[in-house]
Amino acid sequence: SKAAVNVTVTGAAGQIGYALLFRIASGQLLGADTPVRLRLLEIPQAVKAAEGTAMELDDCAFPLLDGIDITDDPKKAFDGVNVALLVGARPRTKGMERGDLLEANGGIFKPQGEAINAGAADDVRILVVGNPANTNALIAQSNAPDVPAERFTAMTRLDHNRAMSQLAQKLGVALTDIKKLTIWGNHSATQYPDLFHAEVGGRNAAEAVGDQDWLENTFIPTVAKRGAAIIEARGASSAASAANAAIDHVHDWVNGTAEGDWTSMGIPSDGSYGVPEGLISSFPVVCKDGKYEIVQGLEIDEFSRKKIDASVAELAEERDAVKGLGLI
Ligand code: NAI
Repeated sequence: SKAAVNVTVTGAAGQIGYALLFRIASGQLLGADTPVRLRLLEIPQAVKAAEGTAMELDDCAFPLLDGIDITDDPKKAFDGVNVALLVGARPRTKGMERGDLLEANGGIFKPQGEAINAGAADDVRILVVGNPANTNALIAQSNAPDVPAERFTAMTRLDHNRAMSQLAQKLGVALTDIKKLTIWGNHSATQYPDLFHAEVGGRNAAEAVGDQDWLENTFIPTVAKRGAAIIEARGASSAASAANAAIDHVHDWVNGTAEGDWTSMGIPSDGSYGVPEGLISSFPVVCKDGKYEIVQGLEIDEFSRKKIDASVAELAEERDAVKGLGLI
């Protein structure tokens, strides 16, 4: 049988952590033939709660769960890590400016990047979920110079899945009929969910919708503001759907995207589609043999160009802000 894979989850005692850990331990992250060893990183005040979650994980008697370590020390948490899910982050609280938010998260993602640099396994793959995800990923990546930059990714899969579902409902088609949807840019309100390259039953999705007004004024804002709508309805932020997206992201990265389809991942830009090199921006990607590649050669019309540029400009501003704070 396969060797156990070390999976580290930060913010393990949080809402997403609670929705995520059981799915990882049951084999949904890496596949039903891969045992996992869980490392849970929390802040000291939340270690006890993480221990409670670990008790429940034990009580599931998951055959693939090879062990659980709990720590408040990033060095221990990332020693030998193969898959790192960076979920814990500092949320924006009332009256907090963006600079304060970036600085507080720098205090989390800089030391975590350093600990990954010091101890991670050669094949480490990192997914940043904690917001602002793209820029937190950039901070961690910049502080891990010995790890190939492309191993640091940010989650836009929840946006991707939200867009899939909105489109399926609009057209009354099955989710399995939809292919090649793309989220471009930042995981924020400026993100651009692109239907112009998507396909529905083999047909162009934007043409199948045939309603530019819906696309611009309903679809895009519904997807971009879905997080706020969930908070409004549920009284708490998306957790199970976020955990599900994290599972999808890593699963596809490791096991590959389906033939004839692609997915969306926040990844360090290589300059494709005019996105400045190094920014962690969402792109259409194909995953194969444990690696991802940006889908090349898509024609970007004027409407899409403006939307992508606006989101990328926001990413560049965030990068400049964290550079100004000495975090990268
Ligand atoms: P939560 O507040 O329930 O849990 C966060 C956990 O992180 C807490 O248990 C906290 O103690 C822990 N934590 C804080 N600092 C830490 C550190 N330095 N090391 C380890 N753990 C630390 O929040 P929730 O709902 O689980 O969300 C987590 C993050 O995910 C938030 O930043 C949220 O905005 C983000 N998110 C991102 C999404 C995406 O699509 N990229 C979707 C939904 C949420």
